[in-house]
Amino acid sequence: MRILGIETSCDETAAAIVDSDRNILSNIVYSQISEHKAYGGVVPEIASRAHIDKIEEVIEESLQKANTKLDDIDGIAVTAGPGLIGGLIVGLMTAKGIAAAKNKPLICVNHLEGHSLTCRLTDNVAFPFLLLLVSGGHCQFILAKDVGDYKLLGETLDDAAGEAFDKTAKLLGLDYPGGPAIEKAALKGNENAFKFTMPLLGTPNCNFSFSGLKTAVLREVEKLGEQNLNQNIIEDVSASFQKTVANIICDRLKNAVKAARILSPDLKNFVISGGVAANKYINQKLRNEVVHYNLQFYAPPLNLCTDNAAMIAWAGLERFRKGYISSLDFIPKARWSLEGI
Ligand code: KG4
Ligand code: ZN
Repeated sequence: MRILGIETSCDETAAAIVDSDRNILSNIVYSQISEHKAYGGVVPEIASRAHIDKIEEVIEESLQKANTKLDDIDGIAVTAGPGLIGGLIVGLMTAKGIAAAKNKPLICVNHLEGHSLTCRLTDNVAFPFLLLLVSGGHCQFILAKDVGDYKLLGETLDDAAGEAFDKTAKLLGLDYPGGPAIEKAALKGNENAFKFTMPLLGTPNCNFSFSGLKTAVLREVEKLGEQNLNQNIIEDVSASFQKTVANIICDRLKNAVKAARILSPDLKNFVISGGVAANKYINQKLRNEVVHYNLQFYAPPLNLCTDNAAMIAWAGLERFRKGYISSLDFIPKARWSLEGI
């Protein structure tokens, strides 16, 4: 079985083809970063226009690379939310057009389920698993019980982890997207140079709060004075910030494991997914930490952590195998929780 996946929920125009033997036959990602860089973040209208410009080309390239014709595809999977509504409309209308013209099943995929199931594509991870979904828009602990069956255990009360990276990078004068820029700067920095507070530390749940951390960095930068914000300081602040994010996540993990094991006592697997999962420092800290809870650690390869269409094609394939097919009048959803699918 071969599924075409389409992803346009944010600033990547992407198409991919995967098969039921877990092969990624093609995975084309057109990143719009250069178009948004000057604004320090994603501009929704620019994103929508770029998706319109690129979508056909990207889909054609994915078919060519996979040496596949549309006639040989068994279903069209597409991100139908959550995300920027203009981009979602572009992807969903394109998918509906192909599905209608070629008489193929349409499978609408929740973007978060795409991130959640990536480790089943790459490592065949068995359910149930505890998932830390850390991206630009989300920071959640989820118990994944089955395809389409998720229990939210805790989430951020304000900023997402990726958003905290992006905002902190911006105030340090680093490039967009902030995550990779901070990770790079942190490599040369002293992670103990600054001590930032850890909001919600020790509270008996697995929620997060990152907006206070961003403000703490801002206060520190103000205290230092903009003229003193030299390369060394930027590297030290980046390393200290990154270490604090990792420590917050590790602190919250113990309550997440407790909550997950009440619902699934046989829990053995831990998965990190989403753009922030690409961060090697956070990845390594968590890899060391989950050992204390007798959990096996899984993270997608770097190119499948950030947004891509292979994860959408795979989630579509898993849903299709369960018989979940969408109607052609499916409406895109800017907000769409994983528990509500
Ligand atoms: O999953 P994703 O590509 O898009 C969303 O669904 O949000 O995640 C993008 C987010 C951005 O906030 C970006 O700064 C962050 O992931 N990110 C990182 C790294 N690479 C991407 N954060 C920390 N370290 C990284 N290496
Ligand atoms: Zn994402």
